[in-house]
Amino acid sequence: MGCSVESLKGSTEPHKLAVLGDERGSLIALEQGQNIPFEIRRAYYIFNTKKDVSRGFHAHYRLQQYIVCVSGRCRILTDDGVTVQNTWLDTPQKALHVKNLIWREMHDFSEDCVLLVFASDHYKESDYIRNYNDFKLAVKRYA
Ligand code: TYD
Repeated sequence: MGCSVESLKGSTEPHKLAVLGDERGSLIALEQGQNIPFEIRRAYYIFNTKKDVSRGFHAHYRLQQYIVCVSGRCRILTDDGVTVQNTWLDTPQKALHVKNLIWREMHDFSEDCVLLVFASDHYKESDYIRNYNDFKLAVKRYA
């Protein structure tokens, strides 16, 4: 019996959210354990993004995020070290669940974009990998 090491393998999974609408308008509910598959310790939102500015360019060792574009649109690039995916979040009905070792970039923000992110942990700079080569090494070592 070997000593098992926790895998930090990354994943990116798109989710489609149900709209609870009536004649007054639309509503989407996000609930821990229902659509958000982890305990939420933090939420933050990105807005007022300047034209042609991209963000992200980092990975996390151990973090889950659930990303929703509640207004406008943007393109999320996710890379597990082998496969690169581009996902347009262009309706509040789309969500992206990003887990562990994934390099992520955010591009093509519309002026009205508000990107809401739920995270499984508090902000910890020590969990960030901000260099792509370090990310590739971490994937080799931990994923
Ligand atoms: P960063 O995660 O690098 O932004 P992005 O991925 O959107 O490009 O964060 C930008 C700055 O904000 C950085 O100095 C860290 C700080 N920050 C916090 O203090 N708390 C948080 O929850 C987040 C996400 C960032």
